Amino acid sequence: MLVVSVLARKGGTGKSTAVRCLAVEALKAGRRVVIIDTDPQPTCYRWGQRRATTGIPVPLVVVPAPGGLAAQIESYRAQGVDLILVDTPPTATPAVNAALDHSTGALVVTRPNPEDLESVQESLRVASAQKRRTGVILWQSPPDKRVKAVALAREALEAMGADVCPTAISASISYPYAYAEGLTPQEREPEGRARAELAEVWGWLQRSGVVAVGSYDMKTILPSDPTNNAPVDSKAKRSRGKAAIKTEVTA
Ligand SMILES: Nc1ncnc2c1ncn2[C@@H]1O[C@H](COP(=O)(O)OP(=O)(O)O)[C@@H](O)[C@H]1O
Ligand SMILES: [Mg+2]
Repeated sequence: MLVVSVLARKGGTGKSTAVRCLAVEALKAGRRVVIIDTDPQPTCYRWGQRRATTGIPVPLVVVPAPGGLAAQIESYRAQGVDLILVDTPPTATPAVNAALDHSTGALVVTRPNPEDLESVQESLRVASAQKRRTGVILWQSPPDKRVKAVALAREALEAMGADVCPTAISASISYPYAYAEGLTPQEREPEGRARAELAEVWGWLQRSGVVAVGSYDMKTILPSDPTNNAPVDSKAKRSRGKAAIKTEVTA
């Protein structure tokens, strides 16, 4: 099982959005994925609640369990989960260090502006101090490829020694619209540009080894949970045949 923390010292870069979108990419790839939202402003958790009430049970989104992150992660490992994405707060908090302590890899999400880029170095330092395989994704980039901001940001990141995803995620109103509807842009607009970019990012994460969930083991599938058999949309349906993941740690 992989545990990937998504980090950025700046608020608003797109961390929580990245967590949701990549979780849905993982579902599309047939993986069993759980989001742990460690941010005191739990946007992913709220999104998960909105989904659950409209009958989309996956991915499971939980907040940290009272017994601690280690026990919570172990419980999902025992249930055969393939990937845990940990959303983190923007500030340097014990929650971020705890998340990294239990992670196999890290992702830093940054906008291509100088204010964000200045803080990436610190996130990379924290992740590399713990020897975590770390990738960087440029997020909310100008959609017009002629704008030089993305190329300049990429250069700045590479000068820091960062492993940068070749696809930058464009800014698009689809992202906040999708959040409001308890969806992701891939689900909301299956033919859209966001869908194509997110698929490219997912592919790069697999190739680069940051989120290579290739060791999916069918033997770990659990008996299914009737509470999770609610009708789901077409994307979520692909995961419906899989075992339900226990939800008792959901706060
Ligand atoms: N690619 C994008 N294009 C446009 N808006 C985006 C994009 N990604 C995220 N957003 C919006 O930016 C805001 C901050 O995103 P969020 O993921 O909550 O950031 P963070 O978790 O880093 O604080 C939200 O309103 C979200 O809908
Ligand atoms: Mg957030």
